[in-house]
Amino acid sequence: MKKPIILSGMQPTGNLHIGNYLGALKHWVDLQNSGKYDCYFFIADLHSLTGDMTAEERRRQITMLAAEILAAGIDPETSTLFVQSHVPAHTELGWIFDCVTSIAELERMTQFKDKSVSQEKNINAGLFTYPALMAADILLYKPEAVPVGDDQIQHLELTCDIAKKFNKRYGDFFKEPKAVLTKTPRIKSLLEPTSKMSKSKGMGHVIELADEPAVIEKKLKKAVTATEGGEGSLGVENLLLLLENFSTDASYKSFVAAEKDGSIRYGDLKKAVGDAISTHFESFRTRRKELLENHNEIADILINGAHRASEIANKTLADVRKMVGIR
Ligand code: TRP
Repeated sequence: MKKPIILSGMQPTGNLHIGNYLGALKHWVDLQNSGKYDCYFFIADLHSLTGDMTAEERRRQITMLAAEILAAGIDPETSTLFVQSHVPAHTELGWIFDCVTSIAELERMTQFKDKSVSQEKNINAGLFTYPALMAADILLYKPEAVPVGDDQIQHLELTCDIAKKFNKRYGDFFKEPKAVLTKTPRIKSLLEPTSKMSKSKGMGHVIELADEPAVIEKKLKKAVTATEGGEGSLGVENLLLLLENFSTDASYKSFVAAEKDGSIRYGDLKKAVGDAISTHFESFRTRRKELLENHNEIADILINGAHRASEIANKTLADVRKMVGIR
């Protein structure tokens, strides 16, 4: 029996931090390890062209992200891991979808509106048609479900609309994929616990998966706890949330109890959080280092992944080409 297909992608931006991990990568690994799905995961390098990164930086980020995805537990034998641009069918179906997507729909996308503000000097056409390429990424593989963060829900809804529009115009072909929204803890910045953990504010705000224990300890020492203005308790809440995700139940519960009865010592809490995270990512750090010292291994895995992905993608594209009359 064929297993249902799961597909998801990630842009090659920066070393992953704890927020990225709990928001996406951990779900990928859990879905793979459930054994219930045939998983396709890819690095969305074409989507990253809509941003401001230099070529050299992009190249570095792609390799780095591949190493981190593998080190976190994506097994290239079980799952198919590839780079989006290595499978040209994405670009071709993306163009076909550009031609069934209305401008009005694209104009409603909140990510486009946000990016038009955050990168006002580079509002390129790719940024605008981004969701049509994303729809192609998805529909090429006819997945049952797509694990995404809630910031991508609107794009996934548009993917369903594009599938419907295509079907109406050319004949019933694409199935609408479902979003898999798993419970995702909202990890906050260490220094500004009112906003979410993000590297754009500075390295002190985030814990990266690759951070060495000493670095984690140092960052946590500076994390906001009890201070004026109520921000402090949000900081404590955030540390407890990290503990809940990376430590034992007993340790988490004892700190929650201590917080309630006022006996909590923030130094101890920070130490417990630091130890838990350092331990959790110990084998990640080792494997990541090994992979980054051997780019050939990463390259082999990605080439192999692209072959496997192409088999499905090219078949879908061949059908679509016939349906739209260009073959
Ligand atoms: N847009 C997604 C993001 O920025 C990345 C992405 C591109 C994606 N294509 C996809 C995610 C297809 C899921 C499915 O996070």
